[in-house]
Amino acid sequence: MRRLVAETRLHAADLVLPLFVKEGLTEPAPIASMPGQVQHTLETLGKAVERAAEAGLGGVMLFGIPARRDATGSQGDAEDGILQRALRVAREAAGDAGRVAGSRPAPVVMADTCLDEFTDHGHCGVLAKDGTVDNDATLDRYASMAVAQARAGAEVVAPSGMMDGQVAVIRDALDDAGYLDVSILAYSAKYASAYYGPFREAVDSALQGDRRTYQMDAANGREGLREADLDLAEGADIVMVKPAGSYLDVLRAVADRSDVPVAAYQVSGEYAMIEAAAANGWIDRKGAVLESVTSIKRAGADVILTYWALEIAEWIK
Ligand code: PBG
Repeated sequence: MRRLVAETRLHAADLVLPLFVKEGLTEPAPIASMPGQVQHTLETLGKAVERAAEAGLGGVMLFGIPARRDATGSQGDAEDGILQRALRVAREAAGDAGRVAGSRPAPVVMADTCLDEFTDHGHCGVLAKDGTVDNDATLDRYASMAVAQARAGAEVVAPSGMMDGQVAVIRDALDDAGYLDVSILAYSAKYASAYYGPFREAVDSALQGDRRTYQMDAANGREGLREADLDLAEGADIVMVKPAGSYLDVLRAVADRSDVPVAAYQVSGEYAMIEAAAANGWIDRKGAVLESVTSIKRAGADVILTYWALEIAEWIK
């Protein structure tokens, strides 16, 4: 009876698996604060994307970890930058299936469009002389990154730095370069959150200072709606709320007013907390994982980014 009347059902196609790939690695490297997750080599990345395809996942989201970092994040839009190389591998592994009748569906290949993995200071943008993030100088970098990612095969670019105007600038740049079909998943309501802690280890990055001049305050819900409205007006194809679990109210409100799909990102800290409690025997791991992700869907997410995507797909098969 509970199954019959369930209001919310998870499906593998709702889920997007974030994947990390590191330049110069020869073996995948475990991420200690995210048990079960690794930094991939280009080769194991390809295998992970194949597994995602076999599991029927809706997509993969790629993050690159460059060998060299600098103030402007120049590897972010380099033709042979690690993320561009990873995108080419991922597209190959995902296959063109799904576009051909009768074949298995291919996961959508998405790229994080942000500078924090590529800058030596760990901020999402380039810095002005006074050390604050320079919004408009960063927009040029994002436009260039998005085009480089599209050229490398990204089907969705995902600006995650919360620069004002980022969606409009990227849309123009993609259109000018002929990538009319590449979609924009906008991190619209991205909070300056403590829950991104383990991600710093995942991408070997040390953030100098904090993000409070350009990412949102946990105290503000209405502001998150305004941010989503701006991104919708600029042409976002999907709007996202991040983190997910502590912001389900914002997610619900965005879902109620958005006429494009809404995504939510269950971030590294949300993952680490459940894994740590489960490892201590303090919580039922499978129960907590499914409850947390079902709640994100119940709150209105059409698309859920979660590090548990493969495992959940296996459980709900
Ligand atoms: C920015 C970005 C982050 C995440 C997605 N895009 C890190 C951040 O904003 O600090 C993932 C967050 C997570 O899983 O903790 N490049």
